[in-house]
Amino acid sequence: MKRLSGNWPDYLLDEIRARADIVEVISDYVVLSKKGRNYLGLCPFHHEKTPSFTVAPDKQMFYCFGCQTGGNVFTFLTKKENISFGEAVKFLAEKTGVNLPQVELDPQEQAKQKQLERIAQINKASKDFYHEYLLSKPEAQAARDYLARRGINHKVLEEFQLGFAPEGWSGLTSFLQARGFSLKEMADAGVVTPKEDGGGYDRFRNRIIFPIVNVRGQVIGFGGRVLDDSLPKYLNTPETPFFSKRHNLYGIDLAHKNMREKGETLVVEGYMDVIAAHQSGFDNAVASLGTALTRDQGKLILRYTQKVVLAYDSDGAGVSAAFKGAEILRALGCNVKILTVPAGKDPDEFLRSHRPEEFALLTENAPGIVPYKLAHLTRERPTANINAKVEIVNSLADDLLKTESLIERGGYIQLIAKTLGITEEVIYAELERISSKARKTRVFPDKSRLNSHTNNGLAHSEFGNPGRESDVDAALKIVSSQVLRAENLLLRLMLDEPQVIALVHENLGWDGFRDPVHSKALVLIKEMWLKGNWDPATLAAMVNDQELESFFARLALADPGVSSPLKAAGDCIKVIKNDQIKEKINKLQEQARLMQNNGDVENAMKLLQQINQLIRQPASDLPR
Ligand code: UTP
Ligand code: MN
Repeated sequence: MKRLSGNWPDYLLDEIRARADIVEVISDYVVLSKKGRNYLGLCPFHHEKTPSFTVAPDKQMFYCFGCQTGGNVFTFLTKKENISFGEAVKFLAEKTGVNLPQVELDPQEQAKQKQLERIAQINKASKDFYHEYLLSKPEAQAARDYLARRGINHKVLEEFQLGFAPEGWSGLTSFLQARGFSLKEMADAGVVTPKEDGGGYDRFRNRIIFPIVNVRGQVIGFGGRVLDDSLPKYLNTPETPFFSKRHNLYGIDLAHKNMREKGETLVVEGYMDVIAAHQSGFDNAVASLGTALTRDQGKLILRYTQKVVLAYDSDGAGVSAAFKGAEILRALGCNVKILTVPAGKDPDEFLRSHRPEEFALLTENAPGIVPYKLAHLTRERPTANINAKVEIVNSLADDLLKTESLIERGGYIQLIAKTLGITEEVIYAELERISSKARKTRVFPDKSRLNSHTNNGLAHSEFGNPGRESDVDAALKIVSSQVLRAENLLLRLMLDEPQVIALVHENLGWDGFRDPVHSKALVLIKEMWLKGNWDPATLAAMVNDQELESFFARLALADPGVSSPLKAAGDCIKVIKNDQIKEKINKLQEQARLMQNNGDVENAMKLLQQINQLIRQPASDLPR
C-alpha cells in the first residue's frame, strides 16, 4: 500500500492533526453550526440547500452525506485548495508551528519541489523586471501610451502588475542571469526560449506583459501582447510544470474573494476584458486564457460561486465557445447566463464607450441557456415555417429537460410558445415524448440513484460503494443484503472498539468480505492494528484511493445505532461466517458433482463428508 503522505513520519502527521483542529480549519471555508457531537454546514463540494456536510471533531473527520466526499483535515485542504497532500501537510505545519524536518522528503520529491520553487522565483523576478520596465524606462514610452490609449488607469495597471518586455533578445535573460538563475531554469519557467547550441533568448520581446497569478498569489505564467496589428497578437507562457492553462483563470487572484462575496462570476474571453471589467467595478471577472472553458476551470469557479455569467465575444467563435462553456458549467452544476455584448463588441470595447450601469444591466438581463439558444436559433432561420418550429423545439428539448427548476422550465416553455406562435401544450407533449424515449435508452439517472442522496448513516440501502448503485444493485442479486450490511456494521464497530478488531482477528480472519471496498477497508484496518499503532483517525490519510477514503469517512460518521458493540459484532461475524460456510459448501458441492461425473466416486464421497461436517457446524459458537 502506497502512502499518500509521502515520507512524513506518523508522529508528525498526528501532531499536526492534533494541533490543527479540523473544525477550526474547515470553518475558514464553511459556516458550521453545532449539532450534537458534530458540526453541520452546507457542503463546499457540491451545491445543496440543506446542510448534509458533517464534521466530527472527536474523529477529526468530515463527510458529506449528499455527495459522499469525506476525509480528514489534510484531504479537506487537498480538495478545497486543489493542492497535493504534501502541500496540505506543509500548510498546516506552518499554521500550527510544527517543524517539518527537510530530510523527511524523499530525494525525488525534494528535487521537484526545488525546481518548482526556482520557477516561482524566476516568475516573480521576471514579473518585477517587466513591471519596473513599464513604469520607469524611456524605452517603454510607446507601451505606456498604448495602455493609456486603451483607457487603462494606473490603479488597475498596478493591481494587475502589468509590464513591458523590451525589444532585444537578452534583456530579461541577463537580468535573471545576474541573479543566479541558469538558462535551463529560465527555459523551465518558460520565460526564455532555448536554442540548440545550449543558449537561449527572451521569449517575450516588445510586448505588454500580463502576469498570470494563481489563487495563492504565485505568478505562474505570462501573456504578452504586441503593440500593433502584428501576429501573433498574444504570446503565452508554454505549458510548464508550474503553468497549466486549463487549470487556471486569468484574474482569479484578484477576483476570487469578490466572486465569493458577490455570489457570481463573470467569465470573459481576454486579458483586456478582465482588466476593463475590474476597472469598471466588475471585480469578479476572470478569463479562460484563450481556450474554450475547461472542466477544471469550471471546478475552480465552483469553489467560489455557483452562478456564472459568460460574456464572450458575439462573433461566431465566441458564440460557439459560449455554447460549449455553458454546457460544461451546467454539467458541473452551475447556474449559467449568457451575456451578449451588443454590436459585436467585446466587454472591454463596450465598457470603454458605455457606463458601468449599462453593463450591469446586461448581466442582470442575460438569458439562461434556453432563451439564449432560442434567440440564436430564431435569428438564424425564419420561424414561420412549421418544420423550423419542430426543429427548434427539438433542439431545445434536451436543455429544457435538464432545467431542474420547474418554474424556470415553465417560463422557458411559455417563452418558446410565444416566440414560435405555438401552444405550450404541444411543447409539453413533445417533451414528454422525447423524455420517455430517452428513459428507455437510460439517458437519465434512475430513481434509486436519485434517492440514494437522501440516505444517511446505515440506513437500509446504505452499504457497498457509495455513488455506484448499479454495482450494488448487481451485487444484491447475488449476495443477500444482510451479509453486506453485516460487513459494513462490523467495519463500523471495529473503528470504535479495538476489542471488536480482536474478535474479528480470532473468530473470522481477514479475508472473505463480499464487497471489494469492504475488503480493502478490512485489509487496511488489519495492517494498522497488527502493527500495534491503532488510530482510526489516521486511517483515511493512509488511503491512496478516493473511493476507500470516502468510505472510511462516511463509516466513521455514521451512527452504528447499537447498544452493545461486542454483541452486535458477534452477530455480524455469525452472519458473515455462515455466508462464508455456505459459499464453501457450494464450491465443494460443485467439485463433488464434477468428480462424480468423472467417475471418481471415492473422492466425491470424501467431499460429501466434509460438506456434511460443515453443515452440522455453523458459526454459532462465538464468544459473547
Ligand atoms: P482576442 O483576440 O479576443 O483578444 O483574444 P482581446 O483579449 O480582445 O485583446 P485585445 O482587446 O485585442 O487587446 C481573446 C484571448 O485569447 C487569447 C488571449 O488570452 C486573449 O486575451 N489569445 C488571443 C491568445 O492566447 N493568442 C492570440 O494570438 C490571440
Ligand atoms: Mn478586446
